[in-house]
Amino acid sequence: MLFKRRTHTCGELRKSNIGEVVVLNGWVDTRRDLGGLIFIDLRDRYGITQVVFEPSFDKEAHRLAGKLRNEFVISVEGTVRKRPPETDNSKIPTGHIDVMVKKLVILNEAQTTPFPISDEVNASEDLRLKYRYLDLRRPSIQKNFILRHKMYQLTREYFDKNGFVEVETPVLMKSTPEGARDYLVPSRIHKGKFYALPQSPQTYKQILMVAGFDRYFQIVKCFRDEDLRADRQPEFTQIDVEMSFIDREDIFLATEGLMKVLYKEIWNKELHLPIPRLSFDEAMEKYGSDKPDLRFNLEMKTLNDVFAKTTFKVFQDQLNNKGIITGLLSPGCGDYTRNQLDVLTDFVKKLGAAGLIWIRVKAEGLEAPVMKFFTEEEKENLVKAVGAKQGDLIFIITGQRLKALSIMGTLRLEMARRLDLIKSNAEPALLWVTDFPLFEWDEQTKRFYAMHHPFTSPRLEDVELMETDPANVKARAYDLVLNGNEIAGGSIRIHNSELQAKMFKALGISKEEAEHKFGFLMNALKYGAPPHGGIAFGFDRMVMLFAGENSIRDVIAFPKTASAVSLMDDCPSEVSEEQLKELHLKIR
Ligand code: AMO
Repeated sequence: MLFKRRTHTCGELRKSNIGEVVVLNGWVDTRRDLGGLIFIDLRDRYGITQVVFEPSFDKEAHRLAGKLRNEFVISVEGTVRKRPPETDNSKIPTGHIDVMVKKLVILNEAQTTPFPISDEVNASEDLRLKYRYLDLRRPSIQKNFILRHKMYQLTREYFDKNGFVEVETPVLMKSTPEGARDYLVPSRIHKGKFYALPQSPQTYKQILMVAGFDRYFQIVKCFRDEDLRADRQPEFTQIDVEMSFIDREDIFLATEGLMKVLYKEIWNKELHLPIPRLSFDEAMEKYGSDKPDLRFNLEMKTLNDVFAKTTFKVFQDQLNNKGIITGLLSPGCGDYTRNQLDVLTDFVKKLGAAGLIWIRVKAEGLEAPVMKFFTEEEKENLVKAVGAKQGDLIFIITGQRLKALSIMGTLRLEMARRLDLIKSNAEPALLWVTDFPLFEWDEQTKRFYAMHHPFTSPRLEDVELMETDPANVKARAYDLVLNGNEIAGGSIRIHNSELQAKMFKALGISKEEAEHKFGFLMNALKYGAPPHGGIAFGFDRMVMLFAGENSIRDVIAFPKTASAVSLMDDCPSEVSEEQLKELHLKIR
């Protein structure tokens, strides 16, 4: 070693160390060169320590210190002293001392960085991602990874204590696209064949239940080739869980126990159990979302009963077509101008609404262009239903049920934003959403898809409906929602091969296709599969929320951009002709 091993980190020295000779290693965070006197803030992961160069301490060290620039890596040796009163700083733990340097070794120089290494940077995210090693050097972002580390440890400790076994499952698996698109890996040995990267270890964890593992968990990478957003990455991490001989309540208990630990250890908050529950239907009707943000009130109201006898054609048409009339009260917004209302109308139209009905609540009564279509009784019942007071504004949207509800749900969030209803110190809001539909109709392909995944059990009382009325079959599926983010999802599984076959049939998957894609699972189910179920947590989303960040990119060390590119190492990239040839591939 050409330099002395450090005796302390840059976050460690206190008044009690005064008089000691120490060695510190780190990066030059800032420097103040006052000619005769040079102050350097030396930084490492643990903190910052001020070190001082003066010719009277050591001439050579002082001379060399003149060369230091930001982000140089150095080693210093010197004596700890009480800081002179004018530089005493009680804001940082090491702020009462500094180090009089007698020996300086420059371990490495650094070019001028493209953005400063400080908590606040206004560099673009692209630049930060290109120089991710510099971005990750910033204390405010390092803090997220130390939190993430703590959450891994708490999670492992929790599941271990509760009898769960961590088992690794393959990263190269069979392609069984259902849900998102698979990432494929061509096989060199088997010409024309492909592995897929797992969208989740779903089938493996079920097979581990068949194998008798009883309680499994894994912190695992998953891969999905889908459109990316602030809360989605092409590769992300799940805490994956599966249990045998259980029902939904057992999964809820296991999950709530983990959340309680995380609340306590990360936020120092007491989580009161049980976590509230809402059915999918309730969540949609009240909040227009299957992941409602309950940090604020503002509930939607279904107004079908209020307008049951309406003569207003727009409403009549929807009522005759199983549509919905949904209302939202915006307290105190009765003075919104025509212009503001036009902006909101455009907002919902962009989401696919036919229009937005707005009604001002005045002392003289309700005021709106549509008022002429409403009877006195309807007006009275409307005011009652939404709980309107003078000065309020009522919005109404009508249309096909789920579509209209979800548009109103988005307007609800927009109004919460405009009314500043989500306070930064609001208590976090956790909830379970239960009883999801088993199937989701897709207009484009004109077929049903599994809303969760095809291994999710229908409610047993609904099995008959799978053939006659699939849209009304409920699943034994559940999501966990935190502050309007889906942080986990799971279900009780089908554990019998006949019901599984019935499910594939309902999804329009032929016997041959089911056999080809899922034969291994169907087979496993024939050899004594226990009843089982599970859940998977979106770990990155959880860390994001516990860290108070808005994007999962801030809690993933090397994330991809929204267009699935890694700017630092420039991937995906082209490969050589030889590599392609070996893999039996040709680029067209
Ligand atoms: P699901 O698809 O709901 O369930 O995924 C579980 C959780 O993973 C997170 N998540 C993501 N996070 C970041 N980027 C993504 N692209 C992404 N996609 C999903 C979400 C989600 O709640 N095998 C089932 C679980 C089960 O049934 O046990 C599954 O993967 O927070």
